[in-house]
Amino acid sequence: MNTRLDKFICDSTGLTRSEAKKAIAKGRVSVNGACVKKSEEKIDDSVDKVSLDNKDISYEKYVYYMLNKPAGVVSATTDNIDITVIDLFKNEKKKNLSCVGRLDKDTTGLLIVTNDGEMIHKLTSPRKHVFKDYLVTLQKPITIEAVSRLEAGVDIGDDEPTKPAFVNVTDERCIILSISEGRFHQVKRMLKAVDNEVTALHRLSVGPLRLDNDLGVGKYRKLTDEEIKDLKLC
Ligand code: URA
Repeated sequence: MNTRLDKFICDSTGLTRSEAKKAIAKGRVSVNGACVKKSEEKIDDSVDKVSLDNKDISYEKYVYYMLNKPAGVVSATTDNIDITVIDLFKNEKKKNLSCVGRLDKDTTGLLIVTNDGEMIHKLTSPRKHVFKDYLVTLQKPITIEAVSRLEAGVDIGDDEPTKPAFVNVTDERCIILSISEGRFHQVKRMLKAVDNEVTALHRLSVGPLRLDNDLGVGKYRKLTDEEIKDLKLC
């Protein structure tokens, strides 16, 4: 695809457009080994080799990250009051990064962040039924009856009851709830419907992708090619 050189540089490096223009004007950029000083020069990003300060710049159209979301951060791209999950991506090209679905401000755990709109659409589409596992800490001990009701589907005040879910009781006040929908405050509302309350909520997985145990709170890493492939298949 033909792209302006300054746009290519800022998309590939995280430099702003004006920083990219300055770098080009200063002769720091070459295309196929020849110095190019015109920002508007068109390059073909599938064949042309571009370098900045003699280092090759690889063009990644799409980027995919897993983030271990901390509490107190909102799942949005911008916010006037709170820190957003995108603000956590300090040294990355942030252009067009968005979250795959949303976690509440107080929810922690796995959030996929990408600029691939098609993946966002696929994984969040209500028709796809991608299962998400949540570690749910409860105010009261869970009952056998509540487990059956959560698994069968409960009325949370919407037009339809929730879809069948899976519950794994790990402790009397802790369950892993696996749901295939992403309704607003769904887990909290499901637990309320069975006369309990969520005191902490942590997402463990989205489809085939599990949060790395060793990824610190607030930290992120790029997904591997294998993980991206598996997510695209689900
Ligand atoms: N369900 C909730 O209630 N909150 C979340 O953040 C995610 C699922």
